[in-house]
Amino acid sequence: MTRRPPPPAPSVPGPGAREPGTGLGTLPAPADLRAGVKLVEDHATRVFTWDYRRDRTQLVTLYNKAMGSQWNSVTDLDWDTDVDPERVVADMGDDAVPRLFRVAATLPGSPLAAWGEPEFTRLGVELLTARLSQFMHGEQGAMITAAKLVETVPWIDAKYYAATQTMDEARHTEVFARYIDTKLADSYPMSPFLDEQITALMEDARWDIAYLGMQIVIESLALAAFGELHRTVTEPLLKKLLRYVMSDEARHVAFGILSLSELYQGLSSAELGERQEFLAENTLRNRARSTTPEVWERLGVPVRAVVPYLMEAATMTGGSVFAGFQRAFFAKLVPNVRKLGLLDANDGWLRERWGQAGLLEFEFATDTAEEYERYDAVSADRAAQTPGHEPTAGAGV
Ligand SMILES: [Fe+2]
Ligand SMILES: [Fe+2]
Repeated sequence: MTRRPPPPAPSVPGPGAREPGTGLGTLPAPADLRAGVKLVEDHATRVFTWDYRRDRTQLVTLYNKAMGSQWNSVTDLDWDTDVDPERVVADMGDDAVPRLFRVAATLPGSPLAAWGEPEFTRLGVELLTARLSQFMHGEQGAMITAAKLVETVPWIDAKYYAATQTMDEARHTEVFARYIDTKLADSYPMSPFLDEQITALMEDARWDIAYLGMQIVIESLALAAFGELHRTVTEPLLKKLLRYVMSDEARHVAFGILSLSELYQGLSSAELGERQEFLAENTLRNRARSTTPEVWERLGVPVRAVVPYLMEAATMTGGSVFAGFQRAFFAKLVPNVRKLGLLDANDGWLRERWGQAGLLEFEFATDTAEEYERYDAVSADRAAQTPGHEPTAGAGV
């Protein structure tokens, strides 16, 4: 069967200025429900295709794997596990409360000066809850964006795959929400940085920008963030939950790489330039994570009072508290973007910018389309339950 040329990416301008509250009056819901939602207007066009041929073989393979590796959030996780949040934090050691916070407490005049171990443990529990809350909100954003891909992508194989991803993201949202609700305490609101980033993807008229932003940037970020927490946590329910979520996320990144590398072969230099600018804009501003101000409010410490000490402590300890995490993120992202051809398009425009930021050391790390099966913890666990089977896939995660 002959390969069809990729459809052109819509060149409609990106999202315009957002008007908070626009459309609220049109939502047919009681006021108390309206207060608990956020409305986002999507400018993309839905695509109904009549071409049902299954000729994108790599996407067919990925879709079949997605169906086979679905897991059940109720029966595959042991929700009866007794979780003591303080124990979880104690077992995480310095990874629960990074050294920066302890250094900030030693500075003259610091609002944390009187803190002892109980306060630091409480901070650790709140930081963990804040982190999982961002995961939960991000997963809901991923669910909505995956549903948008079902609607807007022109290829039937990609629609099928995005539909499985929508289910995956629903399960992820649900398990993080349930863990916070039943094992920790009240969740935190979505960080403004994550909110802004995901809302822009939901609004954008260009369907491939939703792909690029979610499947490549945010999914790479998620893989790094989940991987970091999975490495440092010992609590068995959370550890298994993260392992299973990562198993799905790696497949989602592979989906983005397979779809976009086909599309980008057919774009003009100007269109590729827009995508490169999107990546530079979304990666070079260091806004992937920040301390949630509500954590300090909950602990009774005025945010304004503590921030100068945190900044001084960050300088003293040699930089950002999240430096290690940022490295893990770019180690995932850069090889994935290289595979899309976006590093070298337009005379290496993005290569130059990322090179100046010192990110090219990761260029030849393994891309996620190559290694996603290594993450398949669900298949690995199922195989391990088969008598006489040697576990392989997913064993490294
Ligand atoms: Fe997810
Ligand atoms: Fe995902």
